[in-house]
Amino acid sequence: MALLGLRLNRARGPADSPFASSSTADLRGAAANVVHVRRPELRAALAPHAPLAGALRGPPPPPAPLAAPGRGLLEAGADQLVAPIACPELAAAVRADALSIAAAVYDALGGERPLRGKLELIRGQSCPRWHADSLSLRALVTYEGPGTWFLTSNRFARRAWSLDGAVAVAGADEAGALQAEPCDVLYLKGNGFPGLWGMGAVHRSPEGASAAAPRLLLTVDDVQPDCACCSER
Ligand SMILES: [Fe+2]
Repeated sequence: MALLGLRLNRARGPADSPFASSSTADLRGAAANVVHVRRPELRAALAPHAPLAGALRGPPPPPAPLAAPGRGLLEAGADQLVAPIACPELAAAVRADALSIAAAVYDALGGERPLRGKLELIRGQSCPRWHADSLSLRALVTYEGPGTWFLTSNRFARRAWSLDGAVAVAGADEAGALQAEPCDVLYLKGNGFPGLWGMGAVHRSPEGASAAAPRLLLTVDDVQPDCACCSER
């Protein structure tokens, strides 16, 4: 694929905005492409249930529908999402959390996109390369294990556009990277988020997860069957 190397470090306009926020008010609009919400209180509340990965039973379930346009949140989908969690207290906490996050994503996308949720154990580094997803909006919570790395500003990313409009991350300056902590919510707007014009949040999966110490990861995102973005979290 022919790529046009195009440095955007000095670009002006919305795409050069600060891009990292800690306020869910910035989920709407394109002024920020990352919203990082720290939640030490949830981390403390779940600590008595550790190791959380041990609470999951059975094979990984398929993604659960969490919201539908015109119908809002789907309680039955949330039940499906946490069905593998054996501990009732932990299941209730994750269920409430998933619905709360789904509500924020649903609102950010104007209620126009179906949403899905996935709860899984990650036993490796699914995508070590810096990239941006091509969907609209994805929320990640690593309840246990190392969290996702992300760039705090667009000025730490170098992107390349192909002639067909696809966007790739050509380089990243890790000096501008942060890692989410367990139980933080990381809202990552993708290249397809309205108004971002291919300037999706740049992120990569962390090192350190293994079969013996997997990550317990919740993903909530919009359903885009044609999306070819990396499924990395
Ligand atoms: Fe990703």
